[in-house]
Parts: sequence; C-alpha cells; structure tokens
Amino acid sequence: MILGIDGYLGWPLALRLSAAGHKVSGMDNLFTRKAVQEVGSDSGLPILTMEERVRAAKELKGFRIKFYRGDITKYKKLYSVIKKEKPDTIIDFAEERSAPYSMRDHMHAAYAMQNNIVGTINLIYAARELNANIRIIKMGTMGEYGTPNFDIPEAPYMKALLDGKEDIITTPKWAGSWYHWTKVHDTNNLLLANKLWGLTVTNIMQGPVYGTRTKDITDQRLFTRFDFDETWGTVVNRYCAEAVLGIPLTVYGKGGQTRGFLSLEDSVEALRLLVENPAEKGAFRTVNQFRELFSVMQLAEYVQTAAKSAGIDVGIGHVDNPRVEKEEHYYNVERKVLPDLGFDKLKHNIREELVGMLMDLKEQRQRLEQYRSAIMPKTMWR
Ligand SMILES: NC(=O)c1ccc[n+]([C@@H]2O[C@H](COP(=O)([O-])OP(=O)(O)OC[C@H]3O[C@@H](n4cnc5c(N)ncnc54)[C@H](O)[C@@H]3O)[C@@H](O)[C@H]2O)c1
Repeated sequence: MILGIDGYLGWPLALRLSAAGHKVSGMDNLFTRKAVQEVGSDSGLPILTMEERVRAAKELKGFRIKFYRGDITKYKKLYSVIKKEKPDTIIDFAEERSAPYSMRDHMHAAYAMQNNIVGTINLIYAARELNANIRIIKMGTMGEYGTPNFDIPEAPYMKALLDGKEDIITTPKWAGSWYHWTKVHDTNNLLLANKLWGLTVTNIMQGPVYGTRTKDITDQRLFTRFDFDETWGTVVNRYCAEAVLGIPLTVYGKGGQTRGFLSLEDSVEALRLLVENPAEKGAFRTVNQFRELFSVMQLAEYVQTAAKSAGIDVGIGHVDNPRVEKEEHYYNVERKVLPDLGFDKLKHNIREELVGMLMDLKEQRQRLEQYRSAIMPKTMWR
C-alpha cells in the first residue's frame, strides 16, 4: 500500500511494484495538486486524474491498482482502508514535501507540522492496532541530517561520550526548514514505536530526486507529475525547465551546497529493492538513499552541457540564496544498505538522463511557459 500514490514518486512506484507482480493499493488526498496551483504553478508534464491513470495502467499494462481518495490525518479513514486491504507493507510518502512551502508563513508552517506528524502517528497506531507485523517504509529526507562536520552514519543511534561518560543517543539531526524538521519528528516517533511495540520500520533518508520518467512510463497517459517552480521543484528539475525556457540556471548563492542526488528511476528501483528485501521483524532500518554527491553548481554545469546536446544554449546565473544554509561545507555519508542489495550495479548515466528530461520538457515548452513567473525564488528563509 502506497500512501501518497498520486505523487511524483508514488505513481511510478505503483507502476514498478505492479510490474514486479505485487498487488498494489494506495491512498491520496490530492493535496499536492492543489498546493502547486496555490503558488501559481502546475505539473510541467500533463497528468491524468488518479481514476484515469488507474484505467490507463490497466489498459496499457494489465495492472490492477486500487485507489482510495482520502486524508491519512483522518484516522478512521486510514484505519478502514488498511483493514480492508490488509497490506504486508505500507510505503508512506503522504506528506507536504516542500521546504519553501513550509517557510511561507505561520499557516503553512503549522500545516506542514500537522499534516506530516499527525499522518505518521496515525500510521503508527493503525499498524499497531491492525497488524503489528506490517512493514512500514517511511520516506524521510537526507535533509534531516543537515550538513554536519562529521561523517553521517546510516544508523538511527550512535555512541556518544560526554564528560567521560558513554551512552547511546539518536543520530544527531540539524534540519534547515520547518518541513525538514517534520521529518525529524517523524523519525523520532517511529523510533519510539519501534522501541515500545517492535514495529518493523525502514526509515529512508532520501536525497533530491530528478527525472521525468522511469522505464515503466512508456506512454503519456502514465506520466507522473513534474514540478519545477521555486516552491515545489527540486533543483535539477527546476534547472531543466529553466533551460527549456531560456532562463539562466538559478544557482542559489555560491552553489557549493552538496547533496546526494538520484534519478526517479533509481528512486523507484531502490524502493522495490527495499520492499522485496524487508527489514528483519522488529528492526529499525535506516537507509541513506541516493546515487551520487554533487554540488548544485556542478549540477548546473551538467545541465548546461546536456542542454547543448539537446540543442539548447543556456547560461548559468547566480541568485541570492533565499535559504539559510552553508554554501561550502564538509559532506560525507555512509551508504551500505542499498549497495548490499545491488543498487550500485544498476545501470545509470546522469548525462543520458538529463538529455532525456530536456527532450521531454521541450515538448511541453508552451505548458511550462504559462508558469514562468513561478520559477524565480521569492520565499525567503530570513
Ligand atoms: N521528490 C524528492 O526529491 C524527495 C526527496 C526526498 C524525500 N522525498 C519525500 O518523498 C515523499 C514523496 O515525495 P514526492 O516528490 O512524490 O511528493 P509529492 O508531493 O508529489 O507526493 C506526495 C503525495 O502525498 C499526498 N499527500 C500529502 N498529504 C497527504 C495526506 N495527509 N493524506 C493523503 N495524501 C497526502 C499528496 O497529495 C501527494 O500526492 C515525500 O514524503 C517527500 O517528502 C521526496
């Protein structure tokens, strides 16, 4: 069961798991569709309604994906859907997932807190009451860690020595937005549920995802959403849309901000591996999920080069950083779980991926043009 099945990751994961022979159901309240329109933007790729997509997946691929419209912060609804479907695994994406959206004002910050934290606590209680053996796969973010000057472990706990005394502490987190802190609070709540009741949890710390397709998206009717505005677009997706619109790529500040990135194809494939190779019963498994580290400046250069191959000449422009973050810093992250499952051996070529994205987006140029004014950063952290 995929909570947040209508989203950028949720829909392609539903296709991937169906293609792998799993029985897939999902729930979504369509929040992201409305919230992207709220900031004067829309998906850069045209997407069907959930009902139409489910029909298209059946006609084109023979998949039977079950969709429930509903809000996971409404406990009774979530409980009844889980009770009916009896999933062995629940993947939870159903959150407000934009840092800038959560930084807009008090109302948006409070919304992120309420939606994300209450949704997760509802999932914890529903799993405990209905079947404590359900495997919870919760999507968090690498942004929970911030950019510490030590190596980031792939573990929920670590040893700490304070004034000569040693104990186990939760791995330190230093998130940089209200949204990212909601993910830290979710992590802490899942840790407690695991400790008290032995719930089986895979907590994924994922880096920013880029891409327009996975290998299952073979027809426009199967498109997943693609956000590119300052609020909802992750950096590479934003750069690619900017390239198509002839806007110099908006590198925030100096551009030394380094993060672990992965493509949409990598993200769904990593998730398939984690679903099919579950955490041990009663375990709390942390996964640092990304493919390669890049600075946002390096990525702008990659996109610029890929754009040339796609017949587009675009410059790189630096804009004042709307965020409060280090623009140059140490970043070293442990990654063991996914490499041990064979993830690093999967074929991957960022250049090809970027050229493919730019070709897809070139076809949508007129559509992107309508939302040009939503691209430049306006949401300030200060
Ligand atoms: N896209 C990325 O680069 C990225 C990186 C790291 C982590 N993540 C995390 O992965 C998850 C999926 O991200 P995405 O890019 O697909 O985002 P998305 O916004 O496209 O998908 C999230 C889906 O959850 C739904 N939703 C939100 N609140 C809900 C609620 N209360 N009840 C039911 N449905 C609800 C939304 O309508 C949306 O369809 C999110 O939790 C996000 O924080 C994403």
